[in-house]
Amino acid sequence: MIRDLSMPIYEVMSTLRAVRRLKTDPIPDAVLNRILQAAAWAPSGGNTQPWRIVTVRDSAIRRRVGELYRPQWQAYGAQARQNLAQLTGDARAKQERMLDACDYLGEHMGDAPVLLVFCFNPDLMAITDADLGRPSVVGGGSVYPAVQNAMLACVNEGVGCTLTTLLCFAEDALRSLLEIPQGWYTCAVMPLGYPVLGGHGPISRRPVEKLCYADTFGSRLDLDAISAST
Ligand SMILES: Cc1cc2nc3c(=O)[nH]c(=O)nc-3n(C[C@H](O)[C@H](O)[C@H](O)COP(=O)(O)O)c2cc1C
Repeated sequence: MIRDLSMPIYEVMSTLRAVRRLKTDPIPDAVLNRILQAAAWAPSGGNTQPWRIVTVRDSAIRRRVGELYRPQWQAYGAQARQNLAQLTGDARAKQERMLDACDYLGEHMGDAPVLLVFCFNPDLMAITDADLGRPSVVGGGSVYPAVQNAMLACVNEGVGCTLTTLLCFAEDALRSLLEIPQGWYTCAVMPLGYPVLGGHGPISRRPVEKLCYADTFGSRLDLDAISAST
């Protein structure tokens, strides 16, 4: 067991936000080990744990991953900036700040001291919604809890992190760079590093009553308000 290192869990959950400006300082092995252990504790369908993490610390490989990410972000970010035109006031300013941070990560992904590349193997998954004629998400449920556990551990450790998925567009290049075998695919790349600015902190999310219903979809759920809700 890992003891006496923990922030209160609700504080961890409610301050997990994307931290995209990261220092180049190394992450101590003991800290990285706890983050990876948290991932390994995650549940998965049938407990098959159909995921692996390639922990990239080699600077040349990190730089190459960063070079693969940059054009993906540039293309996505250009579209996102166009969509800004529909926003005004605070909402626009907030979105602009986020895009500035995304631009920074787009340029500096390879400078983060650690990149966690999450891989998965669908042959090891029971994907119960595979044939329903709609986008399948159940398989991801055996991988993203590990991603989330790693991020929660990062908050606890004061390590900045962001879940990124744009590198799926460059999966073939990532596969050959990291020697990922056939049958395994990628679903997230998470840069880790100590934060340049404030790090994890307050988040902006919809209130519970907008997201959760009573008994039937859309029916209002009346619960006592949680004073700490964001
Ligand atoms: C499935 C998923 C994919 C994401 N992909 C990216 C990404 O490719 N690049 C990036 O900078 N952020 C990415 N993010 C981070 C989100 O943009 C971020 O969590 C969201 O805007 C909320 O911001 P906050 O977590 O800072 O509150 C992703 C998050 C999720 C959950």
